[in-house]
Amino acid sequence: MINQHLWATDRSYFRSLFGSQIMMKLTPNPTAKLTGMLMLASACIFNPSYAEELASPAEFNDSNELILPLDYREWVQVGANVSPNELNNGKAPFNEMRTIYMDRGAFQHWKKTGEFRTGTLLLKEVMGVERYKGLTGSGYAAGEVVAVAGMLKDPVKFADEPGNWGFFRYAKLENSDLFQKTSKQLPTDKCSGCHTSGAQDDMVFTQHYPVLTDSKGTGRVAVPVE
Ligand code: HEC
Repeated sequence: MINQHLWATDRSYFRSLFGSQIMMKLTPNPTAKLTGMLMLASACIFNPSYAEELASPAEFNDSNELILPLDYREWVQVGANVSPNELNNGKAPFNEMRTIYMDRGAFQHWKKTGEFRTGTLLLKEVMGVERYKGLTGSGYAAGEVVAVAGMLKDPVKFADEPGNWGFFRYAKLENSDLFQKTSKQLPTDKCSGCHTSGAQDDMVFTQHYPVLTDSKGTGRVAVPVE
């Protein structure tokens, strides 16, 4: 089941889009066909924000659990962090390496407006930390993936949550190579505390994601050149 709330405001657009397609398909009348085609074209031209922005990948199942989108490594990678034991007196609170992904439509919106749109989905792939000696020197490399954590913005579904973010987590199943496919919304006190107190922009740690601070409302998607 697709989340009912995410695209509430977009429905009229899709109705006109699908309405015009149906009109083109069903009617033998050439004038009506032409009208359908014009409606379809205008739905795209006069709603440029919809035409340009990809839809949110967030989907819930019948038990209201968020389904993990299975193409997230093809999204925009906005950050990569590591907090190794060696930099934390031998024991980091979370000895992890993390890669953070943002869904493409949300990134398109962010670079244009500087805001996290309704339906923004951020996923954090959490990995172990490995040490290696390589041609570039000694370093840290990603170990095994242990979980995928997520946050989804929806002012209707999460009306009572700080920042209207819902938090989710897909853990690796015990004695298995597989991960949870769906996640219930986690209790606010489990996740949002650090995000409310420590994150720079709308509960997201953009201070660690130069890709986001650089593109915020600027449209920039590469280093500036001379
Ligand atoms: C101890 C503080 C803390 C708690 C508790 C916490 N987080 Fe985070 N979270 C962070 C920090 C710091 C980052 C920035 C990246 C990094 O350093 O890992 C982050 C990043 C994230 C991100 C990437 C987007 C962003 O906001 O930067 C997601 C998604 C996320 N956390 C989900 C969760 C979920 C789900 C929970 C609850 C299970 C949770 N977090 C609990 C501190 C916390």
